[in-house]
Amino acid sequence: MRIIIAGGSGFLGSALARALATDGHDVTILTRQSSTSQPSQPRVSFVSWAPDGSVGPWGQTVSGAIAVINLAGESIAAKRWSAAQKQKLRNSRLLATRSLTTAIRQAAATPAVFISGSAVGYYGDRGNETLTEASAPGTDFLADLAKDWEESASDAAHATRVALVRTGIVLDRKGGALPKMLPPFQMFVGGPLGSGTQYMPWIHKDDWVRMVSWMITAEGARGALNATSPSPVTNAEFSKALGRALKRPSLLPAPGFALRIALGEMADALLLSGQRALPVRATDLGFSFRYSNIDDALANVLA
Ligand SMILES: NC(=O)c1ccc[n+]([C@@H]2O[C@H](COP(=O)([O-])OP(=O)(O)OC[C@H]3O[C@@H](n4cnc5c(N)ncnc54)[C@H](OP(=O)(O)O)[C@@H]3O)[C@@H](O)[C@H]2O)c1
Repeated sequence: MRIIIAGGSGFLGSALARALATDGHDVTILTRQSSTSQPSQPRVSFVSWAPDGSVGPWGQTVSGAIAVINLAGESIAAKRWSAAQKQKLRNSRLLATRSLTTAIRQAAATPAVFISGSAVGYYGDRGNETLTEASAPGTDFLADLAKDWEESASDAAHATRVALVRTGIVLDRKGGALPKMLPPFQMFVGGPLGSGTQYMPWIHKDDWVRMVSWMITAEGARGALNATSPSPVTNAEFSKALGRALKRPSLLPAPGFALRIALGEMADALLLSGQRALPVRATDLGFSFRYSNIDDALANVLA
């Protein structure tokens, strides 16, 4: 089957592309870079696009593909959130999504599914409230962005099945948030962030890749699905588990005020707030996780 991944050169997309190609699919990655300067991999090709809300020549690749997967967007944690950076975070997602939904609607042979990125930030900061896909959205910047991103993706729903992946904190040794958490622990000064009571809706990268791959053919996977493990833990529990995995203490809390000085609004949105999100839809539809225990997941990732 032919599968398109927009933003497939990134942390999650490249892992997904590799797994799908290994399973025998032909993967086309839409990239803003030159398509010829990309690393060569069997069954993976690159097509250049300009995700500006319009459809260019790249749009022809969408016709006849079985799935279009949308992971494009400016990195959330790369820079401090100035007003201009927030606009960039929004535009990069909303315009890329509009380009894709328009291409899907115009395709001569419509893809069977559009799988579009979202994030658990949809729920905002929710303390220890249990969150399912039916829970109401939050009201902060990331929640508004996720809500608008999902609504934009849903424009394709009258043409094809639309599944919205509300991704949690993806655990991997080399990418995502975990590598940034390791240095304080390795230097024996690790510990919880702020109060440590905020929930971390983690997921092992392999389970994220398996879940998105499963969504391609799971007919019931439509609308929002939380891509989070069935066992979210508090930040304090996560820090203890990380200390155990690294055989280091987890004693020294990083005070919230210091994180706010260093990172501004991002500290509250990404580190000091949390979501106790559960993958109710995927579990009800029969998806099973390989990693539902944080110690097992960290032992595997850090092995
Ligand atoms: N990683 C996580 O733990 C996590 C958690 C929740 C949600 N998510 C969401 O899942 C998606 C994929 O995550 P990721 O970690 O794989 O992200 P990533 O590594 O930053 O990759 C995103 C890709 O999007 C493209 N991109 C970057 N800036 C862009 C812009 N201004 N306009 C359009 N495209 C742009 C890039 O591809 P080209 O340079 O090739 O165009 C990049 O490879 C993101 O939207 C992210 O917000 C990730």
